[in-house]
Amino acid sequence: MYTFKDYYRNKVKLSFDDHPFSKEPKHVWVICKYNGKWLLTRHKDRGLEFPGGKVEPGESAGEAAVREVMEETGGTIRKIRYIAQYFVAGKAGNVIKNVYYADIASLLNRDTYYETDGPVLLDAIPENVDQNELYSFIMKDGVLIHCMKYLKFK
Ligand code: GTP
Repeated sequence: MYTFKDYYRNKVKLSFDDHPFSKEPKHVWVICKYNGKWLLTRHKDRGLEFPGGKVEPGESAGEAAVREVMEETGGTIRKIRYIAQYFVAGKAGNVIKNVYYADIASLLNRDTYYETDGPVLLDAIPENVDQNELYSFIMKDGVLIHCMKYLKFK
């Protein structure tokens, strides 16, 4: 278990165990690779981030992960796996989020990418992403760093 503060100084707990905080988390986040590149989305307010969002009523977290990748990037999934779960003690309440790693098979063009401007492909995530205003706050804490190490990309 790792504990650290996020960009807003909220306390975060991250674990690579099997659903340590909740069996039914309400949020998902998906680290995506497509053709050897990172697949992110450009959120209209927050900036560049891996796709994700809220689990909808009647949906499993895994189903939400697949849907969010499609909605925010047009990506179709070749393979997806759960890797971690984190707990954020936010000012307005707690958030529990599953992290997945997905291998993307194709990118479909969409009429809408919802709250985002759609897919962005990157060869590398910059080193000092926490000081880069192009990036979303959800890319700026230990969740990304530890997950990249866990996936052996760092
Ligand atoms: P909407 O309801 O979709 O408008 O978004 P929201 O930001 O109001 O709600 P959400 O439940 O997504 O997030 C509530 C708060 O939890 C955010 O303002 C953050 O402080 C925190 N939070 C949500 N997701 C993350 C995350 O991935 N990482 C970190 N560090 N904090 C998060």
